Amino acid sequence: MKISIINGSPKPGKSTTELMIEYLIPFISDNRVSVYHINRTNWDKIQFAEIGSCDVLIFAFPLYVDSIPAHMLSFLIELEKQKHLFRKKMIYCIINNGFYEGQQNHIALDQMKNWCSAMGLTWGQGIGIGAGEMLPFCKDIPLGHGPNKNIGRAFKELAYNINALDGGKDLFISPNWSRFLWKLQASFSFFYPQAKRNGLKKKDLFKQIHDEYF
Ligand SMILES: Cc1cc2nc3c(=O)[nH]c(=O)nc-3n(C[C@H](O)[C@H](O)[C@H](O)COP(=O)(O)O)c2cc1C
Repeated sequence: MKISIINGSPKPGKSTTELMIEYLIPFISDNRVSVYHINRTNWDKIQFAEIGSCDVLIFAFPLYVDSIPAHMLSFLIELEKQKHLFRKKMIYCIINNGFYEGQQNHIALDQMKNWCSAMGLTWGQGIGIGAGEMLPFCKDIPLGHGPNKNIGRAFKELAYNINALDGGKDLFISPNWSRFLWKLQASFSFFYPQAKRNGLKKKDLFKQIHDEYF
């Protein structure tokens, strides 16, 4: 079976999306798997035809503003223009988000389901994974263990359904880690240093629109 995976993270380097794809591939390696990074690829008809010839299409991307990121949306619109190439495919989706709760991805999964039905494709299953920025720090912990326990279970179920060309209930998960600790760690080792690198102070992160404009 031919499987195409679309990496929809805009990050040029390593991303959580890329890690999620790396986690999935060993479970589906009996198939012919190709990965396309939408930001690193020049799209032309040949590549659309290549993707169009697969049996399974998997979208993996980050959540932006509770939704599908704009560049990913443009890509989906491009695919719609080539609708005739995309018949009889099963669609699966892996979305990761920054907040702790994987449930945050439910709207984006619904958007993907709507796109699927507009394209006349079959929805397989989706997973929404929370605390995305933490996951690369756990990449050396085997799936199914410690903080990666839930993620391992979810990927196993997703891969089982992909291999069987079957559908499944959407899964929303967070790492097996205390939310309180995650918040502290994310703030001090990720968000505050990131803000500093971008010329912002800690208090700037808590600004709300009405502070600026009213
Ligand atoms: C513009 C932008 C909007 C975002 N919106 C959300 C959001 O609404 N909810 C959320 O939980 N995370 C949000 N995030 C965080 C990303 O989903 C998170 O950092 C994700 O792990 C990045 O994945 P990647 O490394 O695969 O690109 C947003 C990030 C950016 C840059």
